[in-house]
Amino acid sequence: MRKQIIVGNWKMFKTNSQAVEFIKSVDSKVNKDSNIIAGIAVPSIMLSDVQKVAKNIVISAQNCYFEKEGAFTGEISIPMLQDLNVKYVVIGHSERRDIFGETDEMINNKVKALLLSNITPILCCGESLETYESGKTIEWVKSQITKDFAGVSPEDAKKVVIAYEPIWAIGTGKVATPEIAQNVCKEIRNIIKDIYNEQVANEILIQYGGSVKPENIKDILDQADIDGALVGGASLIEDSYLGLVNYKG
Ligand code: PGA
Repeated sequence: MRKQIIVGNWKMFKTNSQAVEFIKSVDSKVNKDSNIIAGIAVPSIMLSDVQKVAKNIVISAQNCYFEKEGAFTGEISIPMLQDLNVKYVVIGHSERRDIFGETDEMINNKVKALLLSNITPILCCGESLETYESGKTIEWVKSQITKDFAGVSPEDAKKVVIAYEPIWAIGTGKVATPEIAQNVCKEIRNIIKDIYNEQVANEILIQYGGSVKPENIKDILDQADIDGALVGGASLIEDSYLGLVNYKG
C-alpha cells in the first residue's frame, strides 16, 4: 500500500517569524500515527529556522539549482539544502516554468542532481487551460514527464513524487473534479509504466494540486491513483492546514 503525502506550498507568503510561529503551533497537532506524510514547502530564507522547530512536519524547499556551487547569484544549491537536512524540494512548479522560464531540460537536471543527493523531488507537471480545452492534457503531461525523467534510473524514478497540477485549477478556486484528477493521475501512472515498468508505476507517489481545501481533500484522495496533494492557499492558515493533513480518509 502506498503512503500518502500532503504538502503545503507557501509560495512567496509569510515572514520568517510568522513561519516559525506557524510551525511551532501546528507541528504537535499533526497526527503522527497516520499513513500520511505531512509537509510544508517554505521560502528558502526560512528553511533553517523552521527546520529547528519541525518534528512531525517535513520541511521542503520550493526550488534549487542543479550545480553544486558557482557564480549563480540568487540560487540555492543542493549541498546548502543537505546541510539543513532538507529532504524534499518542489521542482518545476508551473509558476517557475511560466514566470521564471524554467525548461524541462533544467528541471531534468534538477531532478537528477537531487536524486544523486538523496533528496526527494516533488516534480510538478500540468497543462494550461488552453491545452485542457483542446483535449491535449495527456499528450502535454506525457511530454513533460518524458523529458523530466530522461536519464533517471528505475530505482531512482520510484523515489520521485509527481504532482499533477492543472494550471487552470491553481489559485483559481476551480478544482478539477476528482474524476478528472483521477483520470490524469492514472494516465501519468501509465506513462511511468511505459517508460519504466509496472513496479515503478505501482510504487511512485502521485499528488494532485490545484484549489485543494479541507472540504474537498477526501474526495480527491479517495481516488485510486491519487496519493496526496500539493496545496497552496489552503495551507497558509493553521486550522486549514491541520484540516488537510489530519483529514479522515
Ligand atoms: P492552490 O495552489 O492550492 O492555491 O491552488 C496549488 C499549487 O500551486 O501548488
